[in-house]
Amino acid sequence: MSEANLPSRCTCVVGLQWGDEAKGKIVDLLSQEHDVVIRFNGGANAGHTVVWNGHTFKFSLLPTGVLHPHVTGVIANGVVVYPPQLLREIEDLRQAGIEAASRLVLSDRAHVVFPYHQEEDRLCEAGASQPIGTTGRGIGPCYQDKVGRNCGIRVADLLEETRLYQKLREIVPRKRRWLSVLASHRFGQAVNEGRNDAVGQNAVVCEGLETAVAQLAATYAAYGRQLRPWVRDSARYLYEAYQEGKRLLFEAAQGSLLDVDHGTYPFVTSSNSSTTGLWSGTGFPARYLQRVVGVVKAYTTRVGAGPFPTELHDERAEYIRRRGKEYGTVTGRPRRCGWFDAVAVRYSARISGADELAVMLLDVLSGLHELAICIAYDWKGERLFEPPADADRLAQCRPVYEHLPGWEQELSECRRLVDLPKATRHYLDRLSELVGLPITCVSVGPDREQTIFCR
Ligand code: GDP
Ligand code: IMO
Ligand code: MG
Repeated sequence: MSEANLPSRCTCVVGLQWGDEAKGKIVDLLSQEHDVVIRFNGGANAGHTVVWNGHTFKFSLLPTGVLHPHVTGVIANGVVVYPPQLLREIEDLRQAGIEAASRLVLSDRAHVVFPYHQEEDRLCEAGASQPIGTTGRGIGPCYQDKVGRNCGIRVADLLEETRLYQKLREIVPRKRRWLSVLASHRFGQAVNEGRNDAVGQNAVVCEGLETAVAQLAATYAAYGRQLRPWVRDSARYLYEAYQEGKRLLFEAAQGSLLDVDHGTYPFVTSSNSSTTGLWSGTGFPARYLQRVVGVVKAYTTRVGAGPFPTELHDERAEYIRRRGKEYGTVTGRPRRCGWFDAVAVRYSARISGADELAVMLLDVLSGLHELAICIAYDWKGERLFEPPADADRLAQCRPVYEHLPGWEQELSECRRLVDLPKATRHYLDRLSELVGLPITCVSVGPDREQTIFCR
């Protein structure tokens, strides 16, 4: 991307905030110099946008790079796949004149999302005293089944209809029992709906069971037949592609602060959404990575619940939301908006091993009289320079700000750093210094062209 950098054969694009950093735009730009683009975590909770030729493309499961005809897209084992969504995305692309079907690899080991996962997601949220604010796509329950081992179904299972039926024959009654328990609880209290006794539950579990299992198995076996041409051992594919000298680009979903281990737990997603998820999520050794591009917005957003120290609650949040069109790509929910948090990004850049920053949506900040960057947290009078592990404690942190002058000029036509107002360049310099990484790319609009490459 940066002309000063030698091309990398193995690059990862990763979000360093709470998702929606505009990873899609960066992956699209970098796809020009890579042959294979790989999704390794998450599922249809992701929404990656590319604006190109007057078209807006949104990807949840397909790797963003498939917009480029020379790119092979890989959905690796770490992804949880909802087949109808994947098939829809391929069809949408076909209708837009882009044939991706001949350039796809789908891991036989990726886990599959079923409707009962989505229902479980919904009921868990409805019954929680502190909902996470999930996307409702069944992501957490599917990963739970993967790790729990008894109820997980992988892509390879969809190709064996008898085995699929036998598995579902065991899983569906269990799920029904569990869903009826969840449905009868609200905020930890059992609700007496006359069915939460053992007899009532059995009635719920057994009602139309055979038909339901047969229908579900038939539906998913049909998906299996459609997916079959793409299914293979994606880890082996990547290994061989690398040996052949192909250039690999890994596309993380979500953001490092939503990582299940390193993010603001429990207000996170259920996968390793920092670079740490790459190795397990692909079977490709992360030590071969040459370049990690950390993507950040010039400010911060978050969808769903959880601590957000620099969140704004006044008209400035509304200003940013309006100019940045800050509404969720997947759910349409308004995103929470606030100032850039250098404490959080310094932390996530370290966890993700970022070499450089791509600073996105800088154009959104034009017209604000004064800007602020969080340089430390104040926790009950104590200065913190790292986010605490505990979400409750993080929620109690007050941001310590450095204030910087804003700028009036619109930036969307700027194509070189020297085109930017002095105050904008000063803002970028401080951001880079505080995070401790060079900025190699600045984005001033959604379009491919609205990009400044920094030497
Ligand atoms: P992702 O999930 O990280 O790929 O990000 P999303 O696609 O969910 O959200 C980023 C949004 O910002 C998309 O609507 C992009 O089209 C848009 N976008 C990307 N870069 C810029 C930019 O520099 N300026 C503005 N105004 N919008 C941008
Ligand atoms: P991309 O890839 C922003 C958030 C949800 C919720 C939490 C858990 O487009 O950046 P989940 O459905 O994963 O169990 O929800 O994570 N979340 C995202 N926020 N961008 C995303 O993806 C997200 N994927 C999940 O809002 O707070
Ligand atoms: Mg998104």
